[in-house]
Amino acid sequence: MGNIKRIGVLTSGGDAPGMNAAIRAVVRSGIYRGFEVYGIRKGYEGLLSGEMYEMNLRSVSDIMSRGGTVLQTARSKEFATPEGVEKAVRMAEVFRIDALIVIGGDGSFRGARDLAKAGLPVIGIPGTIDNDISCSDYTIGFDTALNTVKDAIDKIKDTAFSHERCSIVEVMGRDAGYIALNCAIADGAEVCLLPEKEYDFNTDIIQPIIGCRNRGKHHYIVIVAEGVGKSFDIAEKINKVTGISTTTTILGHQQRGGSPTVRDRVTASLMAVKATKCLADNEFNKIIAQRGDQVVAIDIEEALAMVKHIDEDMILTSKILAL
Ligand code: F6P
Repeated sequence: MGNIKRIGVLTSGGDAPGMNAAIRAVVRSGIYRGFEVYGIRKGYEGLLSGEMYEMNLRSVSDIMSRGGTVLQTARSKEFATPEGVEKAVRMAEVFRIDALIVIGGDGSFRGARDLAKAGLPVIGIPGTIDNDISCSDYTIGFDTALNTVKDAIDKIKDTAFSHERCSIVEVMGRDAGYIALNCAIADGAEVCLLPEKEYDFNTDIIQPIIGCRNRGKHHYIVIVAEGVGKSFDIAEKINKVTGISTTTTILGHQQRGGSPTVRDRVTASLMAVKATKCLADNEFNKIIAQRGDQVVAIDIEEALAMVKHIDEDMILTSKILAL
């Protein structure tokens, strides 16, 4: 073992299914490597207030199949200030935490980078249903959320068919349309509106729906990403222009819950084991990422500077297959 004796682990930002598998793997692989592992409650809030406790091999028994995060999570306003970061580093010193593993999204990683600059070594593990961490092809929770949305839309389609309706389904993703686009393909949506793309009401919504009707379709799914919003207004306008009865379903926070899929459990486990390996090898201030089929560690500054673009081929595919 290197210089690290005691590590902390926290979950931050929006929870995601699979975070518990990541916590479990941090604790078990951390202990395997000879570290003491402290669980920090409620993200950076708990770090600031010293809400932390030592975890052992059994503290993480039977948590892998549960959604949410047993450590709980928060979005801390105080931590987002320079004084907050200094205070957090001081509290880590009080508890003799030598390094911190942060499971969360982009905002959480920017906080981790600030801690690293203030002297506390960090490792980030991407956990968010949005799949919007630029340095990683995949984020923990995405697959479970996709399956939750797929199940919901399958059910909505049954009733949309029976009544010959148009169904607007609003899915999560304030800034990223990965859930919307993947589910548009998985559920054969006629229209998909993404936060990354401007849309024109007539050409991007009405024309495809009328085109589909003229080709013999009797029900229509319109997926709207949360960042696009205005789902109720869009439904009303579709009804006014086409005369098609149109309903709106906002799927909301159910997309963040539920037992994680195999993909999320395995990815979380591999990423967490890589995170503790980095610390054991004295490799600090990294984000663990999936690149192709490899789990790798990327310098945190480099990772935060990366940009990920929505896949234009997937957008085209969803349009072609809606014909
Ligand atoms: O970041 C994950 C996410 O689920 C986003 O898709 C969504 O916009 C946001 O969290 C909602 O956060 P909150 O739980 O604070 O409403």
